Amino acid sequence: MSSSSRPLHIDPLEKKWLKVAFALIALFVGVILYTGFFQHVHPPGGMETIDSAALHLSEEFAEDRLGVSVAPDGAIKVTLVAARYGFYPRSIKVPAGRPITFRIASADVLHGLHVPMTNLATMVVPGYISTVTTRFPKPGEYPLLCNEYCGMGHDHMWSQLQVVSQEDWDALTPSSKEP
Ligand code: CUA
Repeated sequence: MSSSSRPLHIDPLEKKWLKVAFALIALFVGVILYTGFFQHVHPPGGMETIDSAALHLSEEFAEDRLGVSVAPDGAIKVTLVAARYGFYPRSIKVPAGRPITFRIASADVLHGLHVPMTNLATMVVPGYISTVTTRFPKPGEYPLLCNEYCGMGHDHMWSQLQVVSQEDWDALTPSSKEP
């Protein structure tokens, strides 16, 4: 080809867009690093596996084990099952400002758990347990939304998260913490 013998010419406009493209890539990588290191946004850890078809027979995800539990040392855990089309239990109550560990398993297909305006967002892959620890600074009502298309009812797949103040949390009796 004759073009190979000529010096490489890049149109100035093209150069400008190359710079824009590289700046955007640098920005996105920067955002990922920033959220990872400073806002603790991480992929679900542990790579723990579970039989999604037999959650009801499992130690952790049987129906009567789901929901909020408080360990003797005060650690708060929320055990959730994502299934077409909802997160179970349908409503959960947790205190603001405390670290809360979510353990989520899918009973069927791929789902995603997203709580808008917080850093809680994770894929819920069938066969794996997603573990996320976060804290919610402000009391309020938050929706738990599914953000992975999972079927006809995907748009309606949501549950409710109630974040209450520490005083309100303390006022609850242990039995009423279970939804
Ligand atoms: Cu579950 Cu979309």
